[in-house]
Amino acid sequence: MDQKRPLLEDDDDFVYYTPGTQRRNRIIIALLAVYSMLVSVALIGALLLRIPPTKGDSLPLPPSIIQKELAHELQPVHAHPGSILSSHPSPEHDEAWSGLLRPLFVNVSATELMRVNVDPTKQLRLFEGGYIASLETYHHLHCIRRLKWHLYESYYFANITEGARKLEMNHMNHCIESLRLATMCHADTSLYTLKWRGEGKRPEPINHGQRKCTIWNQIEEWAMLRAVSNSPKLVNPDKLKVSGARAEEAGMLSY
Ligand SMILES: *[C@@H]1O[C@H](CO)[C@@H](O)[C@H](O)[C@H]1NC(C)=O
Ligand SMILES: *[C@@H]1O[C@H](CO)[C@@H](O)[C@H](O)[C@H]1NC(C)=O
Repeated sequence: MDQKRPLLEDDDDFVYYTPGTQRRNRIIIALLAVYSMLVSVALIGALLLRIPPTKGDSLPLPPSIIQKELAHELQPVHAHPGSILSSHPSPEHDEAWSGLLRPLFVNVSATELMRVNVDPTKQLRLFEGGYIASLETYHHLHCIRRLKWHLYESYYFANITEGARKLEMNHMNHCIESLRLATMCHADTSLYTLKWRGEGKRPEPINHGQRKCTIWNQIEEWAMLRAVSNSPKLVNPDKLKVSGARAEEAGMLSY
């Protein structure tokens, strides 16, 4: 076909394109355009509705030193089973806390460190081999125990010096901040309401919810297998010097 021939010329090819049919065709084309636009919008809409919205759960988990997938259980939030851990200070109470925190410090290998993106060459080593490490959940427990010590200073810090007290204050502010951030990170959205207690002297909060909890045994089992003493001999890789310092004094528990 001759490319230069004007379109819609009243010739053999365009015999039906009289001015009248042209207008009609324009209307039809316009209607078709609107129609196909509506169909496209409907199709895209349907497609978008079918795609589930992004969930927080789709965020990939950071690498964990504990390789197996942890099991969880639902626990009622309101239940506070009486526990020796919640009592006033006593030798039994202290022993229970020491037991819970027994695997505060663990021994991990260079391979394990690298798996969680930690450069082993820059970490404090254990004199008997391996690297000293601690799970954050144990750091939190350590913080809770230590904050409790400060509720009973005459029992736990009877002879504290001014300098030590200053360090403790900084340490406890750090602990509270760690717990605040962890609490907000693991935001528990179970619901509280209030009801009048007994004869209605004051309102009592009641939590009706449950929460998803890591089954603690798995954590304890992992940590106990690797537990080292709470005052292990350490090697500083920078100075390659043997340090007899307790880990607590070397910074682990007082940063
Ligand atoms: C840490 O683990 C390694 C490998 O099992 C072992 O050789 C080393 O003695 C352990 N260190 C301590 C302090 O237990
Ligand atoms: C505090 O000091 C007193 C007197 O020196 C001593 O008898 C006591 O055992 C000390 N208490 C603690 C918890 O260290």
